[in-house]
Amino acid sequence: MTPGFPKENFGLNPIEVAVIGGLIYVCLTTPAPVDIEEVRTRLAPYLAPYELPKTKIACQKDIIEACNWKLVIENNRECLHCPANHPELLVPLYSAGFGKGLDKDNVQPSEQRFQETLQEKEREWESLGLPYHLLEFPDGLWFRAVRLPLANQCISHTLKPEHACKKLLGSFKRPEGSGLSLWTHPNSWNHFLSDHIVTFAVFPLSVDRTLVRTKWLVAADAVEGVDYDLDNLTKVWTQTNAQDQSLAEGAYRGICSGGYMPGPLADEEYLVKQFLSWYSNQLT
Ligand SMILES: [Fe+2]
Repeated sequence: MTPGFPKENFGLNPIEVAVIGGLIYVCLTTPAPVDIEEVRTRLAPYLAPYELPKTKIACQKDIIEACNWKLVIENNRECLHCPANHPELLVPLYSAGFGKGLDKDNVQPSEQRFQETLQEKEREWESLGLPYHLLEFPDGLWFRAVRLPLANQCISHTLKPEHACKKLLGSFKRPEGSGLSLWTHPNSWNHFLSDHIVTFAVFPLSVDRTLVRTKWLVAADAVEGVDYDLDNLTKVWTQTNAQDQSLAEGAYRGICSGGYMPGPLADEEYLVKQFLSWYSNQLT
């Protein structure tokens, strides 16, 4: 270029980045919405016990789903489909904390057990100083966080009541049978256990292709084959992802068919409705 060419005007596009408790949030628009600071203030105490910066990625798996990205998120925002589709996930997880079990006149035995376990665990969390109260899109912010007890005496997202990694995270001195779950609009969900973390991020590739990226994090000094078995660590969510992929792709094929008619959402799909409302608001 000629002398005096203003290189500073022709650089890469700037992007906004914020780190909250070790999770990296990227915003492609400038300026980024200012509510990120409010999210940080509320969310950081929930993430702090896990000391995410002192972890490493033990495994990353990418899958490309033949569907629109919003169907992946819709599927993630309800657990009405869990009992019929996720036999592995429902070993460590109660579906009740994920939008299921809202029908107070028809309480299922598993929901009753969930409520009883929850009350017991809340006392334990108080003594351990672990934040647990539900933060559900407070003041219109774009996240939902809650600590939930694990089912079947599980202490991790595994098929047996054993930890997946012997090296515990952050401030945990012993395995603790709960998980902190965090969902963010528009494209992520995460589960924090005392021995590992699973993060999920969804990226639209095109109208009918979606990248779902899953990462399993363990303590930085944990050794594969000694402290954790990779297959055991990743089994539950690998299976669950494949089942959800089948559901989302099936829903997309249905929506694209000539017979598709929209229907009402069930009460237990209130988080789907919340996502759709949030998304619609972004568009307008
Ligand atoms: Fe699912």
